Amino acid sequence: MHSTSTSYPKDKIKILLLEGINESAVDTFQKAGYTSITHMKGALQGDELNEALAEHRILGIRSKTQITKEVITANPQLLAMACFCIGTNQVDLERANEHGLAVFNSPFSNTRSVAELVIGSAIMLNRQIPQKNWDAHQGIWQKSHINSFELRGKTMAIIGYGRIGSQVSVLAEALGMHIKYYDIETKLPLGNAQPCETMSECLSGAHVVSLHVPATEATHYFFTDEILSSLEEHSVFINMSRGNVVDIEALKKHLESGHIRGAALDVFPEEPKSMKDTFSSPLQGMSQVILSPHVGGSTEEAQYNIGIDAASKMIRYIETGSSFGSQSIPEISLPQLEGTHRILHIHRNMPGVLSSINSALSEHSINVQGQYLMTNNDIGYVALDVPKSASAETLTALKDLEHTVRARVLF
Ligand code: NAI
Repeated sequence: MHSTSTSYPKDKIKILLLEGINESAVDTFQKAGYTSITHMKGALQGDELNEALAEHRILGIRSKTQITKEVITANPQLLAMACFCIGTNQVDLERANEHGLAVFNSPFSNTRSVAELVIGSAIMLNRQIPQKNWDAHQGIWQKSHINSFELRGKTMAIIGYGRIGSQVSVLAEALGMHIKYYDIETKLPLGNAQPCETMSECLSGAHVVSLHVPATEATHYFFTDEILSSLEEHSVFINMSRGNVVDIEALKKHLESGHIRGAALDVFPEEPKSMKDTFSSPLQGMSQVILSPHVGGSTEEAQYNIGIDAASKMIRYIETGSSFGSQSIPEISLPQLEGTHRILHIHRNMPGVLSSINSALSEHSINVQGQYLMTNNDIGYVALDVPKSASAETLTALKDLEHTVRARVLF
C-alpha cells in the first residue's frame, strides 16, 4: 500500500514529460503553479526509464515509451500519468488499475483536424485535383471544367454522427451542402442535417460519402461490395475513420469502373508500424485516389490542444481527486474542495470493503460532508469530504484497512 499523508506543495510535485510533448503542457502545469518539470525530447525504456522516473509523481509520454507492468511495479510513487496522444496501447492499463495509477489520454483533441481534412478532400476529389496534379507533374496541361464540380448544393452522407461526423456536418453545411447522416444511436441533428433511419436511405442520392464510425464488430468491413454498389453513380468516397471498415478490393473495383469517381483514404487495414516500414495498398497508382498516412488528426493545433487537455486532466486529479477521463482507475468527477479536507481512497473491489470504510468512519465519529464512489471490476475509488480537524484521523483509519491500494488527503 502506498500512501501520502499530506497534500504536497506544488513545487515539490516532480513532473517528467518525455517524447517532446508540446510546450502547451509545460505552460499548463506552470500556470497552475507547478515548477518542478523535466521536459525531455526522446522516449525512454526499461532501466533508463526507471532511473529517470525515480521520485517523479507525474509522467507524460506519447506513443513510444512503454509503461509495462515492471515499470508500474517499480514506481509506486507515480500518482498519475498521461499519454499525450489518442491511444493507450503502450500502457499496461490492467496493471495500472490494480496499482491505483490513474492513466489519462486525449482522445478528442484532434476532432477538428480530421473534419477539416475531410472537407479539403471532398473539394479536391470533386474538382479532380488529384488527377490534374498528377498530370501537371508529368507536364500534361488538363485545363478543363469537365467533371469538376462545386460542393455547394450537393449532398453529403455521413456515416457515424459522433464527434468528427457532426463537425464535418457543420463545416459541409457552411459550404452549402445538404447533409444526411446515419448513426446507430439517436443523435441530435446540427443545423439542417437530416437523420436517416437506415444506411441505404442515407447513401441514396449522396454525392459525397464520408465514414466516421469506430472499429467494432458491426463495422468490421461493413462497407462491402454490395453497399459500395449502392452508392450513387460518380459519387466520391472518404474514409478517415478506421482501416478495417471498408472492403478495399471492392472499392478498387468501383473506382476502376468509374462508378465511384474518386476516394480519399487516411486509414488502412494494414498500416506500417513506423516511418521506416514500407506502406503498400491495392489503391497505389490510382490517380483518382488520395492516400494519406493516417494523419487526419495530426496537426500542430491538435498537438497543442492535446498538451493542454492531458495536462489539465492530471492537474484536476492531483488537486481535486477527479479521475474524469481516466483509462485505468474508475472515473469520478469531483467538485473543488470547499472548506473541507478530502480523503481519496483506492481499494480492491472486494465484498465488505465499503462497510469497513463506513464502520471506521462511525467508530471515529467522523462527520462525512460529501461522499463519492465509483468502482470497476477490480478497483473501488472513494472520495470523502471530512471536516479539516478530522482528516488526519480519517486517513490513518482508512489507510490501514484491508484491501487498501492507495490513500491520500487533499487540503
Ligand atoms: P465518436 O465515438 O465520437 O463517434 C462515432 C459514432 O459512430 C458514434 O456516434 C456511434 O454511435 C457511431 N456508430 C458506431 N457504430 C456505428 C454503425 N455501425 N453505424 C453507424 N454509426 C455507428 O468517434 P469520433 O471521435 O467521431 O471518431 C470516429 C472515428 O474516427 C473513429 O474510428 C476514430 O478512431 C477515427 N479517428 C481517425 C483519426 C485519423 O487520424 N484519421 C483521428 C481521430 C479519430
